[in-house]
Amino acid sequence: MFDTVAIVGATGAVGQIIIELLEERNFEAKKFRFLASARSAGKTISFKGEEIVVEELTKDAFAGTDLVIASTPDDIAAEYLPSAIEAGAKVIDESGYWRMNDDVALVIPEINPQDALNAQGIISSPNCSTTQMVVAMKPLHDISPIRRVIVSTYQATSGAGVQGDEDLVQGSKARLENRDYEYKVFQHPIAFNAIPQIGSEKYEGYTSEEMKMVYETRKILGDDSIQINPTCVRIPVWNCHSESITVETESPISPDQAREAFAAFPGIQVLDNLSESVYPMPSNCDGSNDVFVGRIRKDISHPNGLSFWCVSDNLRKGAATNAVQIAELLAEQ
Ligand SMILES: NC(=O)c1ccc[n+]([C@@H]2O[C@H](COP(=O)([O-])OP(=O)(O)OC[C@H]3O[C@@H](n4cnc5c(N)ncnc54)[C@H](OP(=O)(O)O)[C@@H]3O)[C@@H](O)[C@H]2O)c1
Repeated sequence: MFDTVAIVGATGAVGQIIIELLEERNFEAKKFRFLASARSAGKTISFKGEEIVVEELTKDAFAGTDLVIASTPDDIAAEYLPSAIEAGAKVIDESGYWRMNDDVALVIPEINPQDALNAQGIISSPNCSTTQMVVAMKPLHDISPIRRVIVSTYQATSGAGVQGDEDLVQGSKARLENRDYEYKVFQHPIAFNAIPQIGSEKYEGYTSEEMKMVYETRKILGDDSIQINPTCVRIPVWNCHSESITVETESPISPDQAREAFAAFPGIQVLDNLSESVYPMPSNCDGSNDVFVGRIRKDISHPNGLSFWCVSDNLRKGAATNAVQIAELLAEQ
């Protein structure tokens, strides 16, 4: 058990779910501290029947803390988390800043728990679009190695944090009322639209969000030879990312084999009955900690191809749930 646990970014979209999960899963510690920016310092958050006052994040804030779970923008993670390591804390980070650093473990507990247990420094939780895809890939990869993935994402506005949701709600209202609205986080109106850019231009016409799916998948599965071609799209859905995934494996995997392997894998639920219109959607996956798959079918364009649809709550398994599962692993250790 940890003595003192600090949640950094406690007021954010991910931070709020981390706090909810720590309470719901009865994560034990003598003391919990909630930190955020100076804007939030002094606010209170209810937790296990207590009102905890939010503290301002500073480099000195980590003294006496033995576990930090952080979900802040990248630049804040870059600036402050080394101080937490220096103060002797175990650190789990949701941001994208540290993930690909050689000294940092990138962990999905169902896949590479040992990397968290062996970690000497920061433990990163992968990007939300990566996590659900890799969880779904793993049971197939175990049957026959995946050689290539073509994936298109349909990503919710909550993936852009509290302000992303605000843009969806206020932008939609303004559009229905024929008013202008100045978007804060999206480059184009998200209301009644689809934006084929998440992140900045990164490599050969692919965005930073797309390249995260390439690099992070290879790191988590420990296989740099997997070829991945992602297209990431923001859509006007409040929560839960959806992904259309086609994998090419070394030898063919039938839809029935895949269905069975998905169902047996921890944290995956299969919703797959096209004739009854049963499949995962943001509306039936929101609020769950699992990864959902459906529309499982043969890729009719390739003998070793398999296609499926994958939905998961980006704030939960894509972020908060994964981090809390890592914290639980460390606590057991
Ligand atoms: N949203 C997702 O689905 C998702 C999934 C996976 C990973 N992530 C990653 O998780 C991180 C947090 O995302 P989010 O969606 O929760 O964002 P968010 O809703 O914008 O929350 C950001 C949090 O960081 C805090 N923060 C911002 N500037 C700070 C500063 N100068 N000092 C201290 N704290 C500061 C904010 O505090 P204030 O409220 O005081 O501003 C807030 O608590 C990001 O790196 C994101 O890429 C997000």
